[in-house]
Amino acid sequence: MLEFEDKVALITGTTGIALATARRLASGGASIVACGIVEKANAALQAELNRSGAKALVLTVDVSVPDQVRSAVAAGVDRFGGLDVIVNSAAVHPYGTATSTDFDTWNKAMSVNIGSIYLTAHFGIPEMIRRGGGAIVNVASVQGFACQENVAAYATTKGAIHTLTRSLALDYARSGIRVNSVSPGSIRTPILEKAARGENGTDADVEAAYKRFGEAHPLGRIGEPEEVAELIAFLCSSKAGFCTGADYKIDGGLTAGIGVK
Ligand SMILES: NC(=O)c1ccc[n+]([C@@H]2O[C@H](COP(=O)([O-])OP(=O)(O)OC[C@H]3O[C@@H](n4cnc5c(N)ncnc54)[C@H](O)[C@@H]3O)[C@@H](O)[C@H]2O)c1
Repeated sequence: MLEFEDKVALITGTTGIALATARRLASGGASIVACGIVEKANAALQAELNRSGAKALVLTVDVSVPDQVRSAVAAGVDRFGGLDVIVNSAAVHPYGTATSTDFDTWNKAMSVNIGSIYLTAHFGIPEMIRRGGGAIVNVASVQGFACQENVAAYATTKGAIHTLTRSLALDYARSGIRVNSVSPGSIRTPILEKAARGENGTDADVEAAYKRFGEAHPLGRIGEPEEVAELIAFLCSSKAGFCTGADYKIDGGLTAGIGVK
């Protein structure tokens, strides 16, 4: 029996870590409900999962809009019979300080990065309770612990994810729902590519930037989305049955040191 056979997993985002997670959970036998806002990426993921024989429903969803998240959960339950796993990976990454970030940008970061986790919990947890339990994994960041300059809104949401993870874990432990977060360092995905191109998208030498980012990590490289997906899959699985309310760093040692040589 495959490790996620008969399990239904809702994933927010359809690129990067979400894409690798969808592939990983599908290869373990899960039915996938993926919610992304980029139609081209959504179509590519649906086609790939169909080709691989996975059971998959990829939906165009703005995960910061309550009715859209409610409908996505309902569509997944309708198609596959329930909900067992939620992986919250969708995020936006605006640049700016408190003075340079306008309020719309601030609110968008809050509603996409942290509001969506509340929304998938709000609509998804009752379905998990109906199944007798489940697992939620939230993708936070090392920036929830120690942040860079000029990412005030983004870093704030990542710290908030750590707190919401603990709160959900406590509130639903007795319902058999485990809730954890993962905090990646630099991972080779579209969000990092954007960072590599610079705030204005002008710095084109992405591989040189990846090398530079990698050198900041004690392991000397950036991480791969499949490495994060493997940790997420573990936390979603019954092997992690005693893990809840915790954050798991996957950062090549980045936050182990104090950054001074
Ligand atoms: N790549 C890294 O270096 C890194 C490091 C630390 C944390 N993270 C976190 O990992 C998670 C995944 O990011 P990624 O690295 O895979 O990059 P990514 O850009 O591929 O993933 C972000 C996803 O969120 C989706 N999204 C954005 N707004 C949305 C909305 N309103 N509705 C639905 N989907 C929306 C995007 O379309 C995209 O699929 C994010 O939470 C990010 O903050 C990434």
